[in-house]
Amino acid sequence: MNELLDYIEQKKHDETRQGEPLNIALNETEFKNNKHFYIESYGCAMNFSDSEIVASILSKQGYSLTPNIFDADLVLINTCSIREKAEQTVRQRLRSFNEIKEQKPGMLIGMLGCMAERLKSNLLEEEKLVDLVVGPDAYRSLPALIQEAEGGDRAVNVLLSREETYADISPVRLDKNGITAFISIMRGCDNMCSFCVVPFTRGRERSRNPETIVEEAKDLFEKGYREVTLLGQNVDSFKWKGEGKNDDKQAEVLVNFAQLLEKVALVNPLLRVRFSTSHPKDITDEVLHTIAKYNNICSYIHLPVQSGSSSCLERMNRTYDRDWYKNRVDAIRRIIPDCGISSDIIAGFCEETEEEHQDTLSMMDYAQYDYSYMFFYSERPGTLAARKYKDDMSLDIKKRRLAEIVDKQYQLSLESNLRDIGKTYEVLIEKISKKSEEEYCGRNSQNKMIIFPKGNYKIGDYVQVYIESANKATLKGRVVNEII
Ligand code: 5AD
Ligand code: SF4
Repeated sequence: MNELLDYIEQKKHDETRQGEPLNIALNETEFKNNKHFYIESYGCAMNFSDSEIVASILSKQGYSLTPNIFDADLVLINTCSIREKAEQTVRQRLRSFNEIKEQKPGMLIGMLGCMAERLKSNLLEEEKLVDLVVGPDAYRSLPALIQEAEGGDRAVNVLLSREETYADISPVRLDKNGITAFISIMRGCDNMCSFCVVPFTRGRERSRNPETIVEEAKDLFEKGYREVTLLGQNVDSFKWKGEGKNDDKQAEVLVNFAQLLEKVALVNPLLRVRFSTSHPKDITDEVLHTIAKYNNICSYIHLPVQSGSSSCLERMNRTYDRDWYKNRVDAIRRIIPDCGISSDIIAGFCEETEEEHQDTLSMMDYAQYDYSYMFFYSERPGTLAARKYKDDMSLDIKKRRLAEIVDKQYQLSLESNLRDIGKTYEVLIEKISKKSEEEYCGRNSQNKMIIFPKGNYKIGDYVQVYIESANKATLKGRVVNEII
């Protein structure tokens, strides 16, 4: 039981790996201005990537980033609406920001991201918690909004766009390791999964000009980065038809996702390429063959199933059924035999029967996930499910089913990791291990974290690591030879 609790803790930690405040120390000399901003990001990788766009826009206005909120003239929180709990966390943070503001009356507090989009001006009027509310497509207007707010007006821009991709904005990297970076390749989502608020908060799907994506990857490689993750809500539906032509249904697709992957892989064989998130209805064999063809495209696919039951998937409006999903897993296993697969799973969706829940557990066995992000259903106002179905599973049932799913994943992760003992993997060294100064950690192609003694290697090196032991969360090993 303790092991299970440890595991849940670890997973919570991993899930909120993105949820930790971004306390990033930028090179202070990059900015020469006495105004400072502080930013915290919550939710998905896309939000973290957006915060880098925001940092870039603010830096052009002469703002410098501070990791210390007490030094900030502008405090920003980039928010997530995906589950109610995410919103509660943000409200709590806003209350503590407001306590600080009482001692620093000139300080501005701004809310960015999905919650800003969902709640629009309600936050200003009803709760008086923030001075600025800026939706995900409106970050270019931040400088004007800040001015408005400085003049004492409350400033809101939550307009969604059909075109905005921030393609021309070079993000200011807020990560600490200088080795791995996100590249946003598209924005929004045109799927209408019935549980999901994202189509309402991030608007219509649009793809970014692939040339700007490749340029960004090249620039990162030249700066010493060795891994990029291409981000989109549904990367498989990336399509580029040419500037101004993307809305034209008749226009020919010039670059699809498989072709984009290839272009980025060709930047340099030493640049690893990852991507997230894949949609089971859209992932093609062409994408799988492209992954198999290039050693530097990682053998890892995040393929959220959400539920293993066809009837539940139909209520979720996922537009695939159990057999379709199994077929995609079979294709992955056939074309990329060593591929890591992970999933998102929702327990206790509206009207979920015990049998449907069992279907999810058996699907997990079928897919043999290496890892899953697991949640219980949280109704979101305005979504299709909120309008059409009753959130009728009690919290007890949701929690029990979630615990069963977590337990199953614990077994699968442990078994998967134990199977790796005795194998040798290429690992990109990312950082010093949290547990020991004498050890490094980095991931293999399959996205598993591996810990090993430092030797004479440095962060950013590729090494071959022989796996000696494993638990449910990590692999441990030793370097057997350097390949580069
Ligand atoms: N309740 C619980 N989980 C949700 N997700 C999305 N919306 C909800 C919701 N209303 C999960 C899905 C998605 C992941 C990012 O969050 O599993 O893939
Ligand atoms: Fe939400 Fe579905 Fe779009 Fe993912 S694909 S962002 S779950 S609507």
